[in-house]
Amino acid sequence: MTDRVLAPFGRRRCAVVANEATGGYRLISALDEGGPPPRAGQFYMLAGAGWGGTGGRPYLPRAFSVAEAEAGADGVRLDFLCEAVGPGTGVLAALAVGDALHLTGPLGRPFSTPCELAPGAAGAILVGGGIGIAPLAILRRALAERGVPQRVLLGFRDRAHSGGLDLFRCSEVRTASEDGHTGHQGYVTDLLAVLLEGDDADSAAVYACGPAAMLEAVRELCAARDVPAELAMETPMACGFGSCFGCAVPLAGGGYMRLCVDGPVVRAEEIETAMVAGSGH
Ligand SMILES: Cc1cc2nc3c(=O)[nH]c(=O)nc-3n(C[C@H](O)[C@H](O)[C@H](O)COP(=O)(O)OP(=O)(O)OC[C@H]3O[C@@H](n4cnc5c(N)ncnc54)[C@H](O)[C@@H]3O)c2cc1C
Ligand code: FES
Repeated sequence: MTDRVLAPFGRRRCAVVANEATGGYRLISALDEGGPPPRAGQFYMLAGAGWGGTGGRPYLPRAFSVAEAEAGADGVRLDFLCEAVGPGTGVLAALAVGDALHLTGPLGRPFSTPCELAPGAAGAILVGGGIGIAPLAILRRALAERGVPQRVLLGFRDRAHSGGLDLFRCSEVRTASEDGHTGHQGYVTDLLAVLLEGDDADSAAVYACGPAAMLEAVRELCAARDVPAELAMETPMACGFGSCFGCAVPLAGGGYMRLCVDGPVVRAEEIETAMVAGSGH
């Protein structure tokens, strides 16, 4: 199993250092003075100034994949890509520079390298959908630093549900959109199916994050061609560190895993289905 970076005990108070629009999303950056640099695929539980406001909501912290991390003399700058879909993400999206961001993390199991995933895998195919592109940005950079050849496929529903492309500072990005505003008109899995028809299927490992239906399509495409794959999944998470059992996901061999400690990155063959109740949006 891939080594994970362990979170220090307790919640830390960080300062927001930037909050900018990127398409329909927000890119929120905070300076973490007390935590270790995360690995790609790990996540944080976030809460912000204004938590517990109207009628006590939001109350619990919200899970966020780290989209980028840069260690410096003052601490680690953490970037989070945020889609405002409810009270918690709404408060986070509205944070101003200098506001407090309370975080716990890094949490969870990170992505493996291609050769950890399968000895014969030489390159990587990254498949992201919507806000699920976030953890693939830091993964892309980590793989590039190791010299791993990669292709990046990103899909969006429409212009309002897209953003964060600037995080992928490379030329090998292909896009798809359901409304046709960028790239191929259709699903990002159409692009994956074409790639897996070629030589890439013999030597690539696939890494995916996005809506549950997209992850399930990726799982099926890879299983049919015997291509190793890791999926970064979502379920509603109340604690983020294994104590509430609210994030249970059925395993292929029977039983359950807690996605916050045994995931959020899972081997595609570990799970029965990626269509888990409460996942994706
Ligand atoms: C490991 C992990 C990583 C995540 N990374 C990101 C990220 O990088 N950026 C980001 O914007 N969001 C991310 N999410 C999703 C984010 O945590 C939820 O969107 C958030 O908890 C919603 O809170 P809310 O109070 O705004 O909305 P709520 O009132 O909780 O819900 C509003 C709407 O969103 C749906 N929803 C609620 N919780 C989730 C969930 N966990 N996943 C999907 N839909 C949900 C509800 O069904 C409802 O329709 C991640 C979730 C997990 C588990
Ligand atoms: S979120 Fe509480 S056990 Fe996983």
